[in-house]
Amino acid sequence: MAPPMSHRFLAACRKQPVDRLPVWMMRQAGRYQPSYRAVREKVGFLELCRSPELIAQVTVAPIDEFGFDAAILFSDILVHLPAMGLDLTFEKGEKGKGDGGPKIANPVRTRADVDALRVPEPKKDLPYVLDGVRAIRTALQDRVPLIGFVGGPFTVASYAVEGGSQGFTRLKTMLYAEPRTAHALFEKLTRAAIVQIEEQIAAGAQAAQIFESWLGELDRADLEEFAFPYLARIAEAVKRTGVPSIFFSTGTTSHLEPISKLGYDVVSVDWRIPIDEARRRAPGVAIQGNLDSTLLLGPKQVAVERALSIVRAAGREPGYIFNLGHGIQPGTPTETVKAVVDAVHAFAWK
Ligand code: CP3
Repeated sequence: MAPPMSHRFLAACRKQPVDRLPVWMMRQAGRYQPSYRAVREKVGFLELCRSPELIAQVTVAPIDEFGFDAAILFSDILVHLPAMGLDLTFEKGEKGKGDGGPKIANPVRTRADVDALRVPEPKKDLPYVLDGVRAIRTALQDRVPLIGFVGGPFTVASYAVEGGSQGFTRLKTMLYAEPRTAHALFEKLTRAAIVQIEEQIAAGAQAAQIFESWLGELDRADLEEFAFPYLARIAEAVKRTGVPSIFFSTGTTSHLEPISKLGYDVVSVDWRIPIDEARRRAPGVAIQGNLDSTLLLGPKQVAVERALSIVRAAGREPGYIFNLGHGIQPGTPTETVKAVVDAVHAFAWK
């Protein structure tokens, strides 16, 4: 296998020069792919997340199909919640829509609920994730690196407290009414995130992304009190392992400077900021992003043009990874994904 190809993504994480721009897309394994939908016809979502063989199959499929420069472990930011004591299911979506949102039958509401949560032991509680990592590495044969991931404490807490994708009111009210309960919850979720990412890395993950998708819900004061200290601890834990870390969130570009100082190697930005502005404002980190995934639902040529204008705006300075601002949406045409990947790979400065 060609070594320069396989390390393009890791080089960019470390702000080293690359032969071509690395590209991958969040949710690159998912419902927009006929091959993924075929697997899901046969197994439920959590069942899929618990099968190392199927994890490897669906993780590697988009690498073969589109030529992405990194693979991301197929799993979910909520897979550990049953081991923590929460009764998690993914509901079947409406007919024809196919998406099942998470549901937690016994959400965390009180200090006693938080105290009852158990920090998972990944080798014992989540062996299929670690076996999945090993199976993916074997299947990839070092063609591209594998990204492991965990959810950020605020984002995981939003599901644990609300009981599903029901907004943020209960969790945010907890911050103001019961700050000590909220801190105790974030503390446990931080420890859970750290043990999981450490074990994924020990099993073979070559980079780590922290999905703190809903962090944009908080104002600066709450970020500083309830999020940044925990996120810095997770960054520190990843740093000790030696693999690069990527921080992902949405709706947070007004907090880019403090986020870029949390200790992550790469910061992922959404489409709400021009990429050149992100690079200027966060000179200490590599930047990942930031095509609006909705563009992939429009005309292919428009998506390609907008992708290339981001690539040009990102500039020549090493330390840029092409990605979306959030995950690929169901219904995205696979030809558009392929066209964008090819266009980014073909890009060269004159
Ligand atoms: O990016 C990847 O390809 C890796 C796999 C991955 C999934 N979920 C698979 C998935 C990753 C990294 C996640 C993270 C995740 N899970 C996040 C953070 C990332 C983000 O998009 O903001 C969140 C908030 C979750 C929780 C979650 N999982 C929700 C709210 C849902 C239902 C909504 C939806 O998009 O379907 C899921 C289900 C889920 N996770 C699916 C996939 C492919 C769809 C399930 C299916 O096959 O029906």
